[in-house]
Amino acid sequence: MKEQDNWACITGATSGIGASFAKKLALQGYNLLITGRRKGKIQSLAQNLSKDYAVKVKTFFVELSDKQALTSFISTIQKMNNLEILINNAGFGKKGLFHIQDFRIQEQMIKVHCLAPMQLTHAVLPQMVNKGRGTVINVSSTSAFSPFPSNAIYSASKDFLINFSESIYLELRGTGVKIQALCPGITRTEFHQRMGLDQHRVYKKRGLWKALDPNKVVDISLECLKKEKVICVPGLNNKIIRNLTKILPRWVLYRKAPQTIKKRL
Ligand SMILES: NC(=O)c1ccc[n+]([C@@H]2O[C@H](COP(=O)([O-])OP(=O)(O)OC[C@H]3O[C@@H](n4cnc5c(N)ncnc54)[C@H](OP(=O)(O)O)[C@@H]3O)[C@@H](O)[C@H]2O)c1
Repeated sequence: MKEQDNWACITGATSGIGASFAKKLALQGYNLLITGRRKGKIQSLAQNLSKDYAVKVKTFFVELSDKQALTSFISTIQKMNNLEILINNAGFGKKGLFHIQDFRIQEQMIKVHCLAPMQLTHAVLPQMVNKGRGTVINVSSTSAFSPFPSNAIYSASKDFLINFSESIYLELRGTGVKIQALCPGITRTEFHQRMGLDQHRVYKKRGLWKALDPNKVVDISLECLKKEKVICVPGLNNKIIRNLTKILPRWVLYRKAPQTIKKRL
């Protein structure tokens, strides 16, 4: 995948999966445009990446649910004529019953998980299609595969990303543009800690709910790209979860989902 003077844009690269994408793509020689809100953290990541991998790294501080900030970010990426890869990765979780949770947070989640990826993808695709190459990765989740009580908007918004990615994948087949919906299962990042969850409880070492390392998730995503797999599910355990949700009757999911989630989180 290595190209000269080509750029990759990764949203939410301050930590976790986004930061791993940034490192792996810098290693492949991509210049990077990375976004986040924690200024100090993303600036020091940018400095380290440009020093370690001799690539250009630009940072953009953006709250993706803010319409004005997103518009300004979009105009920046539209001016780049050598953007090869867009990774819509930024996201967050919030635990709680739908009717009790603050509506504004749920609205923010829809904006960050659905609206921002949709607008960013819409902004970059015309150029990619014209050039006959480019890649968009939308970071979804295994949470999208089944109902997720206490995380209703999270799982619904991640489901949106899969359906959206599959549809544009079909629209763009034969154009040279690659689309992927990356569906990680539990991954060791700052995600759960920021949700206020106990990491020792969440990060299992084995079994169906085994937690993966973000670098592994990113390696598998990049492998999936080579094979042009539109839905990429890293890890055997997560593939099993996906297949179970496909074959189990809905009533089993309705009975099991609340208990399983209670045990896991
Ligand atoms: N960890 C998991 O188990 C898991 C599983 C499945 C899917 N995912 C998905 O993977 C993606 C990356 O998450 P992660 O696990 O790497 O978590 P993380 O370490 O918490 O990173 C999340 C990133 O998203 C950014 N972000 C969050 N809310 C934002 C907002 N409102 N506006 C702009 N940027 C925002 C954060 O920026 P700042 O920190 O700078 O604010 C950070 O860079 C997310 O979409 C998540 O849903 C994670």
